[in-house]
Amino acid sequence: MELGNNEIRMLKVMQSDPNRAWEMDDILSETGWQDQVHVAGAGKGLQDANMLEIDEITSKVVYLGPDGKKALQEGLLELKIWSWIVNQDEDDQSMKSLMSAGFERGEISTGIGILKGLGVTIDSGRLVIEDEKAISNSIEARSTFIQSLSEGPIASSELDEGMLEHFSTRGSLIEFEESVFRTWRLTKTGSAVEGANLEEVQYIGELTPEMLQTEAWRNGEFKPFDVKLPAPTIAGGRRHPMQALIERIRSVFLEMGFSEIDGDYVQSAGWNMDALYIPQSHPARTMQDTFYLSEPESLKVDEHYLDLWSKVHDHGHDTGSRGWGGSFDKEEAQKSLLRTHTTVNTVRHIAENPDSPSRVFGIGRVFRQETIDRTHMPEFHQIEGIIHEPEASLPMLVSTLKTFYAKMGYPDVRVRPAYFPYTEPSAEVDIRWRGEWLELGGSGIFRPEVTEPLGTEWPVCAWGMGLERLAMLILGLDDIRQLYQPDLERLRKMPLL
Ligand code: PHE
Repeated sequence: MELGNNEIRMLKVMQSDPNRAWEMDDILSETGWQDQVHVAGAGKGLQDANMLEIDEITSKVVYLGPDGKKALQEGLLELKIWSWIVNQDEDDQSMKSLMSAGFERGEISTGIGILKGLGVTIDSGRLVIEDEKAISNSIEARSTFIQSLSEGPIASSELDEGMLEHFSTRGSLIEFEESVFRTWRLTKTGSAVEGANLEEVQYIGELTPEMLQTEAWRNGEFKPFDVKLPAPTIAGGRRHPMQALIERIRSVFLEMGFSEIDGDYVQSAGWNMDALYIPQSHPARTMQDTFYLSEPESLKVDEHYLDLWSKVHDHGHDTGSRGWGGSFDKEEAQKSLLRTHTTVNTVRHIAENPDSPSRVFGIGRVFRQETIDRTHMPEFHQIEGIIHEPEASLPMLVSTLKTFYAKMGYPDVRVRPAYFPYTEPSAEVDIRWRGEWLELGGSGIFRPEVTEPLGTEWPVCAWGMGLERLAMLILGLDDIRQLYQPDLERLRKMPLL
């Protein structure tokens, strides 16, 4: 009987207790091996030789997700709201008081939804509780369940089925992972075979340059490999997927001959909006969308530009436009804010280099007042770019975007007519993903109302696209927050870019 040295070692160890179902850790400590791969490999060899059987029990383990860990510290949402309710006088047990109790909007609607499921009812705005004890008990049971996972993963078979069913429908409170538990047990043949009848062969497990040079491999016997054999996943260090994506985009634009530009987060309303011919009465300029700053409250803008924007906005100046009418407010233009788009960078770049043709791009963070949900965050990134040169044109814009997305792996791109105050024509850019068209951003040719005050007469192809949308697509995520949660398990499993 021919066996490799690892197989013989494992066989001898197992023969010391021939009827036992051996577990991984025991085999490791008895053989002195460090790596589970040896056990899996030798086990497979012995199994092929009919000397042992491998038993596999697949089980699901349950562990706390990011929301679960949060609940561990803050308490479950229903507990927070329930504690508030039972601590109020009966008069104050109403939706109205709850609204002003300092909870977030989303928390109240979700929390009340959960409490309704537990028996709380609402009668003309009043929160009605029939059986306080029962509700308290249910919430306590749920809290205990979450608490029970605080020490680490637990096999789902050991947990309450009703609870598992309940929590698996609630976001990322709990998460599941499949794990396989294996034991190795000798067969009759395996227990009976005697050491003396075994011939040890030195398998070649790894081909070295020496072996190739000395041709030693010719007489050697190769260790059979089974690529389907389970092996531990090695988690080394890696770049955060968002950073990796940013770097890939960067190299695609550099490859296409673009240079990179950058800019400050804090900008004046003038550069962020007026330079782009966004009317001062535009709804997006109000406090609802834009974060205006109180420190510094205003930023000095060059009088030269204030004058030009003022004329262009009021009556078009000599751009051939009639302007927006009304009267431009220079104070408004000097309010300071967190940039709402990276178009401010490309516009400033043109103002600084009005006479030199340029192809530039930038990837940067932008800020808007958004309620956080599955697809929105108040901070996100845009990929911005321009082509500023005498022959810039719409076909050039479209083919540039097509080339960019093709290099990123999305060959199907389409543009649709759109509207932005600063471009004409304007186009929305979509890419095709699994048979569907997904909107990724805006583009167009800057209007003369934008370019003339900047000091150029050349056309400018411009575009601005959301980075997170693209990232979610590439990484297969359905919730934007997953990109930023420090959930190592999930990050490790994200595809390499
Ligand atoms: N700035 C636009 C946005 O934030 C995108 C855009 C950039 C549109 C350049 C046209 C030209 O969505």
